[in-house]
Amino acid sequence: MTTNASAVTAKPEALGRVTFLDGQGEMPMLEISTAWSTAGIYLHGAHVTQFKKKDEPPLLFMSQCSRFTDGIPIRGGVPVVFPWFGAREGSSQHGFARVKVWDLKEFVPAPDGSVSVRFRLPDCPEVSGYPPFTADYIVTVNQSLTLQLIITSQSKDAEFTFEDCLHTYFEVGDATAISVRGLKGISYLDKVAGYVEKTETDDLLRIASEVDRTYLNTTGTVEILDPRLGRKILVEKQGSASTVVWNPWIAKSRQMSDFGDEEYQRMVCVESGNVASNSISLPPGGSSTLTVKLSSETLK
Ligand code: BG6
Repeated sequence: MTTNASAVTAKPEALGRVTFLDGQGEMPMLEISTAWSTAGIYLHGAHVTQFKKKDEPPLLFMSQCSRFTDGIPIRGGVPVVFPWFGAREGSSQHGFARVKVWDLKEFVPAPDGSVSVRFRLPDCPEVSGYPPFTADYIVTVNQSLTLQLIITSQSKDAEFTFEDCLHTYFEVGDATAISVRGLKGISYLDKVAGYVEKTETDDLLRIASEVDRTYLNTTGTVEILDPRLGRKILVEKQGSASTVVWNPWIAKSRQMSDFGDEEYQRMVCVESGNVASNSISLPPGGSSTLTVKLSSETLK
């Protein structure tokens, strides 16, 4: 396991832009600073908790009630959901990757001022039920935030089937005032209606009640139009066939002990991955990369 700074491969010019510190719950984290932005990443879950462009509100929503405790996911930011999405009998929801302390492997500075950090999921008892694999996660910080989850089978003979999802929580001015664009005509599973399959009819999806939808067979960019913050967020992706949109609304917010009763008003999750019928089956030795680029611009 490699979590200490001295064991990490780093070029000197990157060191000024990466700071190691104890975060909340005294959990180790990295703060990254570039000419355009700052970011925070916990080793717990390789969890990005912050991305903020200079002169802009934070891009990522973080719950004020989040716990920072071993074995429990952080509420907000970007939980890494792997190797399954949703509930699984006898196991915790959304896989084990988000509650493991990932190994920090390297910083990769780029001449353009970007900083990339690579993490690897450590060996843990839970992987024993799967063919051998590696899971790497590369976070690149510059004007935007780019996240890459790379799963590589190390098996010589077995297929490896899994789901993955970057469960991104976005900060918005008022959830009831935003529109989510880019999903019209796409089929989705409506969890609020008991996983009934429906087709999105709206060009601009609005939030006025609990929303929990898994859109399938969709690879396109999704935009979040936020008139209150005067911001458009772009969620661009590659290697992803599913998009999940979630807002817990009033009753579910009250049920969640690590989420404020009113916090649903300031967030929306637009999650990119490969889930349900879009799960990935890797042949022996195969590899798959899920890439999500998050950026923002002024809403015109
Ligand atoms: C979403 C699911 O991805 O995650 C929701 O679609 C779920 O059903 C939500 O409630 C949060 O999950 P968790 O495990 O982080 O509370």
